[in-house]
Amino acid sequence: QLANIGVIGMAVMGSNLARNLAHHGHRVAVFNRTTARTDEMIAAHGSEGDFRPAAELAQFVASLERPRRIIIMVKAGGPTDATIDALIPLLEPGDIVVDGGNAFFEDTRRREQKLRGAGLHFVGAGISGGEVGALEGPSIMPGGSAESYEALGPILESISAQVDGEPCCTYIGTDGAGHFVKMVHNGIEYADMQFIGEAYELLKGLGLSHTEMADVFATWNTGDLDSYLIEITSEVLRKVDAATGRPLVEVIVDAAGMKGTGTWTVQSALNLGTPVSAIAEAVFARAISSSPDLRAASQAALAGPSGAIAVDDRAAFIDQIRQALWASKVVAYAQGLDEIRMGAAEYGWDINVGEVAKIWRGGCIIRAKLLERIRSEYAAGSLTTLLEAPSVAKELANSQDAWRAVVAAAVTAGVPVPGFSSALAHYDQARAPRLNAALTQGLRDYFGAHTYRRVDKEGTFHTNWSTDGAEVQED
Ligand code: 6PG
Repeated sequence: QLANIGVIGMAVMGSNLARNLAHHGHRVAVFNRTTARTDEMIAAHGSEGDFRPAAELAQFVASLERPRRIIIMVKAGGPTDATIDALIPLLEPGDIVVDGGNAFFEDTRRREQKLRGAGLHFVGAGISGGEVGALEGPSIMPGGSAESYEALGPILESISAQVDGEPCCTYIGTDGAGHFVKMVHNGIEYADMQFIGEAYELLKGLGLSHTEMADVFATWNTGDLDSYLIEITSEVLRKVDAATGRPLVEVIVDAAGMKGTGTWTVQSALNLGTPVSAIAEAVFARAISSSPDLRAASQAALAGPSGAIAVDDRAAFIDQIRQALWASKVVAYAQGLDEIRMGAAEYGWDINVGEVAKIWRGGCIIRAKLLERIRSEYAAGSLTTLLEAPSVAKELANSQDAWRAVVAAAVTAGVPVPGFSSALAHYDQARAPRLNAALTQGLRDYFGAHTYRRVDKEGTFHTNWSTDGAEVQED
């Protein structure tokens, strides 16, 4: 009997995905460029299911039933292209090649077009959940032809996380849609972590110990903020460094790394003209943390308060931080979903935003209680933005006083809260009946004759600022 599906790339993500497939009864062909890796995987896990290791790519391809389903789990970029190029001559029309890495969606669009030309299906599948997710059930966001999903979907749905009996995997849309949605997922992931970091700084400013902070996050995880990232924040804060006896986070260098998916989210949003300011602040917060020269020079030169926060009622302020965190989180999710809506319009994808929220409820890094509410709000009616959803708008209205108080206190105390404050600014901008953009237009017209429109009549206008001051209609 031939294998049902194949996995190329036996690093941790690939081998865990192959094991997950085998655990669900699929016959799995496995291949790695260096055969020793495949041998190690089979030696350690071969007894867990029906694996078909291959030493040669041609042997791997020949071991698969048709249409062949092949998941590539190699490094994004050059290695992915090299693997695809090696595969193409070995495949036959109708075969399906899946890229399960964190590829940039424009690369996925390019690859899909190339493989389509050869009669092959190319599926860019976002897979979230890290190493454990790959093994125990990730959230999977596949893009590509609808036809390819018929052959591939049932297998992917069988290995994904399940919530309320429903798989955290659904067909997203054509070509790069799956990787686009995964990219936005990661942007939201950056924002979520930045907000958590800001809450942590504020709790520290109040003088809480790390154990107390861990308890606060654990408590928050029992309410509206219930999420994987809040849960593990509590665990990370509670961890004591064996060598020094200090909280581990206190001995970790405060320079955040990144592989760049958050940056792509913001770059793509800039191209689309969709505001993802809170996500952008999260990317820039990592950038400033990893700018040692800028920080050293500024630390030596700049004055300001120490970050200590004095309040009369500590418990009440902690609850206000919780509300600020929740409200900011909602804004970041709204911005990310807005980007998906805009991206879908630009690239011709028919993406169901409610379904995206549904498959993010389990398996992925941003899984959170909030996503069930988002799913049901999108199911209840069409939304331009999440912020207008009745239950969301109501709770934001209830939280906004606390949110403003926290941002004000942070600014006064010198605690940087770029995420909270930018999310709040987005909230205020989005609801404002008038924005300062009218003045911007006036200035643009003054120095560059860029023209403006009027609120009271149709047309495009210009004022002769430097001559007679008269307004002329341009068209
Ligand atoms: C996931 C994660 C995963 C990975 C990112 C993080 O959904 O499982 O998002 O894709 O952790 O690569 O990226 P950074 O290194 O940029 O933080």
